[in-house]
Amino acid sequence: MSIFLKCVNGDPVHRPPIWFMRQAGRYLSEYRSTRKRAGSFLDLCYNSELATEVTLQPIDRFGFDAAILFADILLILDALGVKVQFIEGHGPLLDPVKNKKDIQRISDLGQIHEKLFPVYETVKKLKKHLPKDVPLIGFAGAPWTLATYLINGKGEQGSLTAKKFLIENNEEFEEIINLLTDATIEYLIMQIRSGADVIKIFDSWAGALNADMVLRYSLKPIKKIVSEIKKKHPNIPFIVFPRSVNTIYSNFSNEECFDVLAVDQFLDRKWIAENIQPKKIIQGNLDPLFLTQKEDTLIQELKKVTEDFKTYPYVFNLGHGITPDAKVENVELVVNFIKTIKF
Ligand code: CP3
Repeated sequence: MSIFLKCVNGDPVHRPPIWFMRQAGRYLSEYRSTRKRAGSFLDLCYNSELATEVTLQPIDRFGFDAAILFADILLILDALGVKVQFIEGHGPLLDPVKNKKDIQRISDLGQIHEKLFPVYETVKKLKKHLPKDVPLIGFAGAPWTLATYLINGKGEQGSLTAKKFLIENNEEFEEIINLLTDATIEYLIMQIRSGADVIKIFDSWAGALNADMVLRYSLKPIKKIVSEIKKKHPNIPFIVFPRSVNTIYSNFSNEECFDVLAVDQFLDRKWIAENIQPKKIIQGNLDPLFLTQKEDTLIQELKKVTEDFKTYPYVFNLGHGITPDAKVENVELVVNFIKTIKF
C-alpha cells in the first residue's frame, strides 16, 4: 500500500507522506501553458484530457505522495444551474441566490451528473495514468463554504453577507445547506465510483462562523456527508478541513467518521500536538508564505513543523493553498526534506 494511504488509514509509516493544496497551479510554468491551451479556467476543469495533464504535472515534477483531482469546489454550483465565472485577477463571480424562487430554480439534483460527467472522466483517466503508489484525492467544498459563494455571488473576507443571511433568513439558509449537502453526497459518490481513493472536504470559510454556528452549519453537514457516504463506501478515508476554526478543531477531532483533520497555519502547533494529534491524524500547517522565502528561512520553519508534530504520524502539507508566487525550487526542497525524515 502507498505511504499516503497507510498513513491516513492509521498504519505505521517511516516518514510523513507529502502533498500540497493547489499543487497543480499557477506557480508552475507547465500549468500556465496548459491553462492557456484550454482557454478559460472553467474550460480547463471540464476538459478531462487537460485536467488529467495538469493533475499529473506536480507528481511528475516533484514526486508528491498523492495526487488531487484538478477541478474546483464551485463546479457543483455551476452543475446546479448557477452561473459561475472566473474573472482573471478577481476570482469567482456567481449569480447570487437570494430567495425561495432562486432556491427552487437550483433544486433539481437530477441534472448535476450530466454537467459533472467530465470530472468523473478525469478521475477515470487519472486512475489509468497515476503510478500505483500515488493515490488520488477527490474533493468537494463543504456546504457552508459553497453557500458563502452562492449567497454573496463572490468570495468575501469574513463572509458577512452569508452570515447575515443565515441569521435573517434562517429557513431559506437551512434549505440551501440541505440542498448542498444532498448534492455533495451524490457528487462525491460518483467520484468514488469513478476511482477516487480518498476524499477531502474543504470548509475554507468555516472560521467566519461563531462557535455555535460552526457546529451547526460546518460540522453537522460535513458529518452527514461523510456518514452517509461511509454507509456505502466504508473504506474511503475522509480528510476534513474546517479552516480557521481555532479550538473548535477539538470538536471535529471527536467525530469518529472523520479520518484526518487538515489544520491551517494559524493554530498553535503545540496545542495541536497536545489536543488533536492524540485523537486524529493531522495534515497541514506549513504557512504557504514560506514557499516564497529564502532557502534558510524555509528550512528553519520545516524543522519547527516536523519537530512539533513528530510524536504522532501526520501528513505533511500547507496550511492553505500554494500561492502563484511560490518558488518552484522551494517546493522541490520541501519534498526532498520530508522524504529524508525517519520516524
Ligand atoms: O491542485 C489542487 O489543489 C486541485 C484543484 C483545486 C483548485 N481549487 C484549482 C484552482 C482545488 C482543490 C480547489 C479548491 C477551492 N476552490 C477552494 C477550497 C480551498 C481553498 O483554496 O480555500 C476554494 C475556496 C475554491 C474557489 C476558488 N477557485 C477561488 C476563490 C479561486 C480564485 C482564487 C485564486 O486562487 O485564483 C479559484 C480558482 C482556482 N482554482 C485556481 C486553481 C488552480 C486558479 C485559477 C487560474 O488558473 O487562474
